Amino acid sequence: MPTTLANDLNRVIRKESPDVFELLSGLGRELYFPKGILTQSAEAKQKANRYNATIGIAREGNEAMHLPSVMRRFASLSPDDTLPYAPSFGLPALRTKWRDHIQAVNPSLAGQAISMPVVTSGVTHGLSLVADLFTDAGDTVLIPDQVWGNYNMVFKVRREARMVKYPFFAESGGLDTAGFAAVVAEQSKRGKLIVLLNFPNNPTGYAPTEAEAKALTDALIAAAERGCRVVVVCDDAYFGLFYEPEVMRESVFARLAGRHPRLLPIKLDGATKEDFVWGLRVAFITFAAPGGPPVHDALEKKAAGCIRGTVSNCSLASQSILVQAMNDPAYAGEKQAKFEVMLARAARVKQALAGDRYASAWTPYPFNSGYFMCLRLKTLNAEAYRLRLLDRCGIGVIATAPTDIRVAFSCIEEKDIADLFERMFECAREMAAEPGGGPVVPDSAFEE
Ligand SMILES: Cc1ncc(COP(=O)(O)O)c(C=O)c1O
Repeated sequence: MPTTLANDLNRVIRKESPDVFELLSGLGRELYFPKGILTQSAEAKQKANRYNATIGIAREGNEAMHLPSVMRRFASLSPDDTLPYAPSFGLPALRTKWRDHIQAVNPSLAGQAISMPVVTSGVTHGLSLVADLFTDAGDTVLIPDQVWGNYNMVFKVRREARMVKYPFFAESGGLDTAGFAAVVAEQSKRGKLIVLLNFPNNPTGYAPTEAEAKALTDALIAAAERGCRVVVVCDDAYFGLFYEPEVMRESVFARLAGRHPRLLPIKLDGATKEDFVWGLRVAFITFAAPGGPPVHDALEKKAAGCIRGTVSNCSLASQSILVQAMNDPAYAGEKQAKFEVMLARAARVKQALAGDRYASAWTPYPFNSGYFMCLRLKTLNAEAYRLRLLDRCGIGVIATAPTDIRVAFSCIEEKDIADLFERMFECAREMAAEPGGGPVVPDSAFEE
């Protein structure tokens, strides 16, 4: 059944041109342009003249955060590194470089066979490859209840998957690994599962500790042992931005590789967020398939075939820029410096929210990584509060649920963070003092 948003579009097309409507495929009738984060970000672009903490990029000094080793390349790329087609698999030198990177930052992959990464046009494209390769209508896809809404478009709208949520946080703090295990155990009775693990998580900025990661992997291996075939998709879009000492430094992918013949771990990661090159659209899909090299070779070819049949190949210029930047002696140091900027911001957020000064307004969800953190509002409706912050304070944040606000500290300078929360608190206090605390907005406002 098309969603309300799809139906709105269908109604216009049917009214103005019944023939065009009749020409639409089943999928064509289901497609729509999502609201949610995108609409909220667009509003913030217009109105958030003080702080815009909505966008999923990082900013510094009033421009996009960037590595000089990347920006230097724009003036010096040769025509041959820029203009021809790239292979559908991606540039061989970049694929090798990225595989070396994955292995270097995930030492427990030592001795495990993994495929060569295949280049995708962003992590989103990697997700859609997974959906095309592994999801039939009615297949079950497990997603967290703290989630990036685009998974619905990729798996449910485009592939008609059955989306089932698992609880992300436990009441006591940290991941609800028991809740995860219970949902996996129940759903594994269906014989096939696609499980999405996204760490650091969007929207909460949480990544697991070693013990939590072990509990997650144990639950997945137990499902495989009971006879269920499991695809585990590790969406590592924000990989490497780990701020607290207790956070596991590796991907869960590394802990699942080679663990069970019925378990297929897939790693989706990318330069988009890791190297601050969002619009260059360079990311990767990497398999750790049971069966090893022959299966990897076949899956790489299937992924490249899917790319060939959709976008044909990804931007050569972007891939050249990335591989040249990665070969630049300055690259590692520059990346570390940007990590330290983000680390300092995360620490400043923790400091600003420590104590009980803001306790009447919100409780911060646990966060330890990534670009974002979330606040759980005590009494206010999140959408009404978001609009008020925008209209009265020039502050842009994202309402992700009726009670939850996401703050992208990736876009806020360290020196401004305390002021941001102070202003947000003032706004919350004023609003709470008014009768009703603003209108209650239905859940559909958060549809992605
Ligand atoms: C969890 C998650 N996965 C994937 C993506 C998409 O990343 P990309 O820009 O590489 O397509 C995002 C971006 O917002 C994200 O938050």
